Amino acid sequence: VSAAASAPLQGNVALVTGASRGIGLAVAAALREAGARVVRLARTLRTGAGGEYTDFRCDVTDPASVTDTIAKIIAGPGVPDIVVNNAGTFFIKPLEDTTAEDFATALATNLTAPFLVARALVPQLRQRNSGHLVTIGSISDHRTFPGNAAYGASKHGVRALHEVIAVELRGTLVRTTLVSPGPVDTVIWDSVDPDSRSGFTRRKDMLHPEDIARAVTWAVTQPARVDVTEIRINPAGYSPRG
Ligand SMILES: NC(=O)c1ccc[n+]([C@@H]2O[C@H](COP(=O)([O-])OP(=O)(O)OC[C@H]3O[C@@H](n4cnc5c(N)ncnc54)[C@H](OP(=O)(O)O)[C@@H]3O)[C@@H](O)[C@H]2O)c1
Repeated sequence: VSAAASAPLQGNVALVTGASRGIGLAVAAALREAGARVVRLARTLRTGAGGEYTDFRCDVTDPASVTDTIAKIIAGPGVPDIVVNNAGTFFIKPLEDTTAEDFATALATNLTAPFLVARALVPQLRQRNSGHLVTIGSISDHRTFPGNAAYGASKHGVRALHEVIAVELRGTLVRTTLVSPGPVDTVIWDSVDPDSRSGFTRRKDMLHPEDIARAVTWAVTQPARVDVTEIRINPAGYSPRG
């Protein structure tokens, strides 16, 4: 196996937000496995460069923290070739139980944070006329579910943000991929406890974080001429249509 085949992302810097656990952690591992130098961001990571990753403790909802961290990334590992906006939060509450604070938290984490990261880095990608912006959306970015006022609004919003960025990048060689998963078994489901409620996918039947990581890795390792605009991925038998 040639180096290009085993490490197709050799020489690339990848940034993954929300990489302390779950999907982001799996994406970071897969991109590293593919040869990228991976920078991970999360509130519970300890800032430092180990052998495997460069980590930054960063609250991506805080504009000053994002600006400061991205300046350090550019000065250190360099402008990321691959930016994965993954950090997110999730809860299910009927409209009447959703507080203004709940709503603001969902929007801040799932919509404003990807905006802050994209605003800081997309101009750099545009200037280099290369790179790849990946947004982790959700099935909730295009379908509606009860109890999803805050999450659904934030994910529909992030899809809109992603698509606007994509059309603004038209004519450049910067690529954009929106990955929209159905249920994935991570701790994000702990508070929902789907196994004890009807109408929810059982955790054992959910996707695994590694399934999403393979999709992201596939999209970002395509030949430069190939732009994978969107990936929708669900558990087998989930039947998202109808
Ligand atoms: N699991 C699913 O069923 C599913 C389905 C579709 C889409 N998604 C999306 O996939 C993404 C990852 O979800 P997951 O299931 O992997 O959830 P998770 O296991 O709870 O992980 C969420 C990650 O986001 C980070 N994060 C949250 N708020 C942050 C903040 N303010 N600043 C920095 N990092 C923050 C967390 O790190 P810290 O707590 O350390 O900050 C953690 O690393 C989210 O965008 C989610 O909406 C998930």
